Amino acid sequence: MQEIKFYSGENLPLELHKTRIVQKLHLVPIERRLEALYEGGFNTFQLSTKDVFLDMLTDSGTNAMSDNQLAAMMQADDAYAGSQSFIRLEKAVRDVLGKELLLPVHQGRAAENIIAIAYVRKGSLVPMNYHFTTAMAHITDKGGQIAELLYDEAYVINSDHPFKGNMNIEKLEEVIIQKGAKNVPFIRMEASTNLIGGQPFSVQNLRDVRAVADKYGIRLVLDCSLIGENAFLVLQREEEFKNSDMGTVIRTMTALADLCYFSARKLSSSRGGGICTDSKEIFKELEALVPLYEGFLTYGGMSIREVEAMAVGLYETLDETVISQSPSFIKYLVEELHKKQVPVIRPAGVLGVHLDAMQICAHIPQKQYPAGALAAALFLISGVRGMERGSISNQRDEYGNETYADMELLRLAVPRRVFTLSQIKYVEDRLTWLYDNRELIGGLKFNYEPPVLRFFMGKLEPTSDWPQKLMAKFKEDFGESL
Ligand code: F0G
Repeated sequence: MQEIKFYSGENLPLELHKTRIVQKLHLVPIERRLEALYEGGFNTFQLSTKDVFLDMLTDSGTNAMSDNQLAAMMQADDAYAGSQSFIRLEKAVRDVLGKELLLPVHQGRAAENIIAIAYVRKGSLVPMNYHFTTAMAHITDKGGQIAELLYDEAYVINSDHPFKGNMNIEKLEEVIIQKGAKNVPFIRMEASTNLIGGQPFSVQNLRDVRAVADKYGIRLVLDCSLIGENAFLVLQREEEFKNSDMGTVIRTMTALADLCYFSARKLSSSRGGGICTDSKEIFKELEALVPLYEGFLTYGGMSIREVEAMAVGLYETLDETVISQSPSFIKYLVEELHKKQVPVIRPAGVLGVHLDAMQICAHIPQKQYPAGALAAALFLISGVRGMERGSISNQRDEYGNETYADMELLRLAVPRRVFTLSQIKYVEDRLTWLYDNRELIGGLKFNYEPPVLRFFMGKLEPTSDWPQKLMAKFKEDFGESL
């Protein structure tokens, strides 16, 4: 790991790239931001980018692409079948992820759909370190259930545990014995566990999961969407790998899994997705589903240009100067916020900065969605768009009751190589102001709630006129500033 020190002693993340294509941003007045919130039902997914200043909704499909990725897109070999672009992608998957056989799909959740169709039945139970929204939805859609098996430390907001994404091995065995191994079609491990704050697991933990999988003859499925970042943190935090390199760590992890899948929107800063394995048997079990749901086996619903960008992006995942960028900006923002006592998930993980709405909005009951309210309030006072990762993102249970989230988080994604340090400092500044004025934030309630993945399309409204009061305080403190 290379470190760049400043003479001043300041600990700043340094951009190891230059910007050659730019996109103009719009910071619209707060009055317009308030209107936009009402138009979008206080749901940040429903905002239009013309009203958004810094888009920290997600890193999915929003990482900056490299010059080499864009160049590769020009050599796309457009063919329905047998495209040379796909051959290049297969080679990249072999070289980077170490898996021989590749099935292309249009994005990560398409892989989850295919894996669930192939293996999940009514009565199945899928143990996992933690759910991801779409992974869970596809499993429950096919009649299965999930069991989340993190250690307790994963839920401690302010912690110094290096591997909060680790699977609880004792519980894993208990659950398998209880349910019966034949009802457990696979164990799912998610690299850089998204919904608990982008927290990694250790290679040792994955080896321990593998040992349990072997003992009971169960497949191990690895969600590799954020495996580059997980590997980067393993290099920094796991003694055994401190002198290793990205490729070795990634392939050590993927070699432990029977089946890997990924969202290329994250993994390779492109679009698309894939499922890969060394097992001819698994490949056969899934193969026929790809042309049925996605597209022919050499494009899987992706444009061939994306296939080329994905191949190059996969190789770039091995470059520490590429992968370190987002985590180092996240670490900077997390530590600055922590110094100002703003409750934020620690240690800093990957993907984004995660604010603890349960503490920040302790005065808002969970049934009024504190994380959703915080997301709306931050957008109002800054134009920064984050994502609610709390109870709104949860599904109701089979009886229609709310299932409150373990954590109420506001996620501010830091896509790879997109934002500058002054933009990150702006986020820090507005968040600090909002924290000092947190009592002005109020709750939300649904006025339109779709039955599946409600956080995408749902519409909410404030439980009082708190947005107007928050705006008035903003104007008092910032005057005519945007
Ligand atoms: N697995 C993980 C760990 C993810 O973070 C995502 C997507 C998926 C699977 C699904 O992939 O979007 O390509 O279909 N995460 C995005 C996010 C949506 O904002 O965190 P997809």
